[in-house]
Amino acid sequence: MITSLKPLLKAAKENNFAYGAFNVNSVSQIRAALRIHEIFNSPMLLQGAELANVFMSGQADFKNGTFEQKAKGMKIMADAFREICEKSKIPCVLHLDHGTSFEVCKAAIDAGYTSVMIDGSSKSLDENIALTKRVVDYAKDFGVSVEGELGVLAGVEDHVFSKKSTYTNPLDAVRFVKETGVDALAISYGTSHGANKGANVVLRKEIPIAVNECLLHEGLKAALVSHGSSNVDPYMVKQVVDLGGDIKNAGGIPIPQLQEVISSGIRKINVDTDIRLTVTRNIRQLLAENKELLDDPYVKMVYKRLKDDPSNFDPRYYMQDLMDTMVRDNIPSKALGQLIGAMDDGVMEVCGRMIIAFDSYEKYKLVEI
Ligand code: G3H
Ligand code: 13P
Ligand code: ZN
Repeated sequence: MITSLKPLLKAAKENNFAYGAFNVNSVSQIRAALRIHEIFNSPMLLQGAELANVFMSGQADFKNGTFEQKAKGMKIMADAFREICEKSKIPCVLHLDHGTSFEVCKAAIDAGYTSVMIDGSSKSLDENIALTKRVVDYAKDFGVSVEGELGVLAGVEDHVFSKKSTYTNPLDAVRFVKETGVDALAISYGTSHGANKGANVVLRKEIPIAVNECLLHEGLKAALVSHGSSNVDPYMVKQVVDLGGDIKNAGGIPIPQLQEVISSGIRKINVDTDIRLTVTRNIRQLLAENKELLDDPYVKMVYKRLKDDPSNFDPRYYMQDLMDTMVRDNIPSKALGQLIGAMDDGVMEVCGRMIIAFDSYEKYKLVEI
């Protein structure tokens, strides 16, 4: 069944657990994610960022998309999500990740997303509040939940690259939640996007504690969100490198640190990089162990991209010649089917690992819709 984030957050809060929120970039990835959530009876939270939506519009050059392409991709993504998830017993949410403007959030809601993030974190507090409130006011009529962001994460925030992290001020958080009415608030407390989060990240866990206590004190219900939370497991990175990939200065967030902040109100934990790494490991491994697959013209195109740029582990890069497969699920050869299977297994592996780690395992019946 399809729902907004709201009832999922309520169940997580009342039973003290969190959800991994997983970024997807193809129709088969949605199906794979649902399969593993169903196996573990976990509610499901999938998300598409703006670039993912451009990609889903069929535009291989997804980093240079127009507004129209984003809107088109949102519709394709939301339609596929609805078709795949509607009949499941599992409560499923489709969330816009890092929406950058009111217009983009509105387009996502109009396309069928059940939850949106408006990321006004690079703006002044007043501007961020005004923009976020506008989105909340629009979303309300559609039963769509809204996530805002306060504080800036180091690393890549969509197109914005920020060198330093500006941690969330708990007092600003109270004002932000009170004046906007958001359901969820992304905070900055030491996580960052991508595969280079630092050698030994130690999260400032007193920040979620302080934000959560201040919100509780004021009777405010917003749940906290942890972006940039991939584990970037050294073992996974080593496997990608041993299979010909080139990943330097890799570092992630140790899972025990995330488990520690769940009781401080962190209920949504965003994971994208781990999926990209695991999918890349699987595809490289499949091709290394089954050389005959390289005779297939479709597989050959993927192989060439992987060879041409070993440092790029974004499946949208090396699958760009196969848009019909990614967007419309059209699999023209058996060999390509095997490759897509390896990709989907990667999605399942990461989702499964986080479902257990964040304890959303077996919680689907706790969500009241
Ligand atoms: O937070 C950003 C997510 O990892 C999405 O990445 O903008 O490349 O789709 P993307
Ligand atoms: P990672 O890059 O750590 O996977 O973070 C993903 C994210 O925050 C998506 O919004
Ligand atoms: Zn993020």
